[in-house]
Amino acid sequence: MGRLHATLFIIFLVFPFYLCSSLASVIATMRDLGKRGKLETEAGQCLNKSLVIKQLDVTQEDSVKKCLEEIPDQKVDILVNNAGIGQVGPIESISMEDAKKVFETNFFAVMRLIKMVLPAMKKRGSGHIVVISSVLGLQGIQVDFHSSPIPGFCESLAVQLLKFNIFISLIEPGPVNTEFEMKLMEEVSRSDFPGTDPETVRYFKELYLPSAHEIFVTLGQTPDAVAKATVKVIGMDQPVFRKQTNPLYTPLTALKYADNTGNLSVRTFYNLQFNYGSIFHFSLNLLRCITCNCFRRRVMPV
Ligand SMILES: NC(=O)c1ccc[n+]([C@@H]2O[C@H](COP(=O)([O-])OP(=O)(O)OC[C@H]3O[C@@H](n4cnc5c(N)ncnc54)[C@H](OP(=O)(O)O)[C@@H]3O)[C@@H](O)[C@H]2O)c1
Repeated sequence: MGRLHATLFIIFLVFPFYLCSSLASVIATMRDLGKRGKLETEAGQCLNKSLVIKQLDVTQEDSVKKCLEEIPDQKVDILVNNAGIGQVGPIESISMEDAKKVFETNFFAVMRLIKMVLPAMKKRGSGHIVVISSVLGLQGIQVDFHSSPIPGFCESLAVQLLKFNIFISLIEPGPVNTEFEMKLMEEVSRSDFPGTDPETVRYFKELYLPSAHEIFVTLGQTPDAVAKATVKVIGMDQPVFRKQTNPLYTPLTALKYADNTGNLSVRTFYNLQFNYGSIFHFSLNLLRCITCNCFRRRVMPV
């Protein structure tokens, strides 16, 4: 079992119940304890034994401190950062205030949590920090910046922390069928994109949104698949730095690595979106068929 005997501190997730049977102690957190019912049911016998649920708002310094202080000896062997919010829209329509809120949760909160657990990890000479990022941090096929600074930040930190036998792992899902996308699409459907020219709004509504929907339907994973991939990484003796959870995305990310000028991926995505829409749709349909998803229905979050 190796690394799977540990105290795990986790920022709300679908995976506490995958972990609680194999870890000594899982602390699952959420900002609104009113939502804990489903997790309690799933946790079953683990609840209040190997799995404890605590309140935590990752954007609030006091909340993080309080939560950590309640952990015996503040001993966190594995930290999983999963909390995230999204923002999608033409850039002209996104206020700086809203953009800062996204970074407050998706970047600064990750930094805050890491800062707080690192000193003890360094003293012990061991630890594992897992960040649920996004494959979109690797390839920008969508107008989406929800995890963009994370990969660079984590990569530089990974180098420094190896000296202390602390590992960082980036879990990079493609589209995952959770409430995340539904919340974003709901917000988008209510917005009239102030400050955006009509051509961009038209492109966004008629081209981008339907393509995004099609990508989710065709390539979207279940949260379970992402959770299982994450648990596998946590169980490794030498955890990998990067784990893309969706093999269907490999050809797209390969474009990025194949040409270090970036032109190959930028031009390919541009052409797929604006010039060769039919090839894009055909490719997705082909993918759907060869992965036996022809008759697949959209996986809806419960
Ligand atoms: N879904 C995708 O397509 C996709 C793709 C790539 C990466 N990701 C990443 O995967 C992670 C999980 O996303 P998901 O798809 O499971 O979305 P989700 O269902 O919306 O879950 C995100 C969770 O983060 C919590 N959260 C937000 N702000 C918080 C805060 N300040 N403090 C504590 N918790 C907070 C939310 O709590 P509330 O319920 O209280 O709002 C929610 O439970 C995110 O980091 C996201 O960026 C998602």
